[in-house]
Amino acid sequence: MTARALAFGALLLFGLAGCERTMRDMYEQPRYGPGEGSPLFPDGRAARPPPPGSVANASGDLAATSSGRHGQAEVALRESAYAASAPPPVTRTLLQRGQERYSIYCLPCHSPVGDGDGPIVRRGFPRPPSYHEQRLREAPDRYFFDVITHGRGIMYSYADRVAPEDRWAIVAYIRALQLSQHAPLAALPPALQEKLAAMPAEPPANKEPAR
Ligand code: HEC
Repeated sequence: MTARALAFGALLLFGLAGCERTMRDMYEQPRYGPGEGSPLFPDGRAARPPPPGSVANASGDLAATSSGRHGQAEVALRESAYAASAPPPVTRTLLQRGQERYSIYCLPCHSPVGDGDGPIVRRGFPRPPSYHEQRLREAPDRYFFDVITHGRGIMYSYADRVAPEDRWAIVAYIRALQLSQHAPLAALPPALQEKLAAMPAEPPANKEPAR
């Protein structure tokens, strides 16, 4: 063996040893394992409690199920139990819940008043029909419930994001929105009726805020 080959072999050995060292550094990173203590925090624990109001990723219908398929079977079971459920009585709490859920899940497209001019639509998403169309004013509550569950046309299902109880709350709120645009004059309190009668027939044109 020549001296040159020996030198080369030695270099290779040193080089590989260096690799191994770097790899160990990757195994043993300076980080805390689960349940480890730490002098950094007053309670002596490395794991920090979640901030108030945070929502665990592992909660909801699919949590604690071994696979998506298992979870889907459970969701299907629950859905079929709810498919025949009747709308709950309308209360202020239900409406408030509906308003909140509507604002999160429907308003982006259907707009705050339900005319279909939501912020996403203004940015180019196809415009949904207005809830104030006669056809949708006359549609039964169940129809809205089913659209949320199964989607319709290009609108997809919200079943995995809006629980059945909340679907009824949203439906109640949509009914309130519809009433807000089509209330008969006689249904208003007398003071409001007088105020309306004193207003000019043509309301001033709605100006878009400058962008
Ligand atoms: C990402 C935008 C988007 C969101 C969010 C959305 N929708 Fe829609 N929605 C649409 C579009 C677009 C249509 C029209 C679908 C079509 O006809 O192809 C539609 C149609 C509808 C219709 C009318 C169906 C008909 O008979 O014409 C109802 C009712 C409805 N949506 C309710 C809801 C409710 C309730 C929510 C909230 C849970 C919601 N939508 C969330 C886009 C959206």
